[in-house]
Amino acid sequence: MNEPLRRVRVTRVRSTFRGSTWPVLALASEGSVVVKLHGSAEGTLPLVAEVVVGALADALGLATPARLLVELPPDVPSDDPHEELRDLLTKSAGLNLGFSYLEGFRNVTVADASRIPAELAARVVWLDAFVQNPDRTAKNPNLMIKAGKIWLIDHGAALNFHHDWRAVTEQSPREPGSVVTAHLFQVSERDLLLADARSAEVLSREVLARALAQVPDEWLSTGGAEAADRERAAYVAYLQKRLHAPRPFVAAGKRVPFQFGR
Ligand SMILES: Nc1ncnc2c1ncn2[C@@H]1O[C@H](COP(=O)(O)OP(=O)(O)OP(=O)(O)O)[C@@H](O)[C@H]1O
Ligand SMILES: [Mg+2]
Repeated sequence: MNEPLRRVRVTRVRSTFRGSTWPVLALASEGSVVVKLHGSAEGTLPLVAEVVVGALADALGLATPARLLVELPPDVPSDDPHEELRDLLTKSAGLNLGFSYLEGFRNVTVADASRIPAELAARVVWLDAFVQNPDRTAKNPNLMIKAGKIWLIDHGAALNFHHDWRAVTEQSPREPGSVVTAHLFQVSERDLLLADARSAEVLSREVLARALAQVPDEWLSTGGAEAADRERAAYVAYLQKRLHAPRPFVAAGKRVPFQFGR
């Protein structure tokens, strides 16, 4: 589990999904990949969050597309002539983040969401609350579905603390955040506590460290390999502190009345 990410090279860009960060569908050495570009306005931190949260989802047994490191050559050919896309591709030459393409999947609707088993919904809420992922709401579910099976996508806005390390204090990992109350799934206290017991146990220090080890140095720091390792250690320390029982982000969920299946 959590092997180093495989590297592939893009040969052609097919189209863009026109999501807020303009992910693109591209052809790589081994088939279609969805690529999130480091040249987008938000820079490399969303890519870091995607790698880390993807690895944690894997560890928790939640389905999410496999991540790949994607080399984008300068002047990569694109079937989509959009000028803004061309600029973005030019800025994004080098290392980007790919995801295995979910063939035949569609985005989950609120009606689909109401049919998801409560136990699974609670595990998704728990992960999102832990990593402070604000992007799993009724408006923007960021789940895909095929043959009744749900996959998690789009974790780029998680780990919001990494946008301002200077604001991180001893106390900040212990803040509950507002993810649980705004979440697509409103789960029962019982299911959230069951998910809590099961999930927190899985996320050992080693699992956290392996997740961070998958992040390339150049997305973390301009200060070279040693500085990148210090940053990885800071992420692990933050997440470990957040995992100490009793976990405030779970307590926040207890205040939510049972509304699952609205
Ligand atoms: N691995 C994948 N396989 C197939 N389709 C995907 C995959 N990842 C993303 N998509 C499609 O691309 C859309 C945009 O992806 P995503 O939500 O990750 O990007 P985003 O730019 O953060 O979007 P937004 O902020 O608008 O939610 C998704 O809604 C989904 O339809
Ligand atoms: Mg999205």
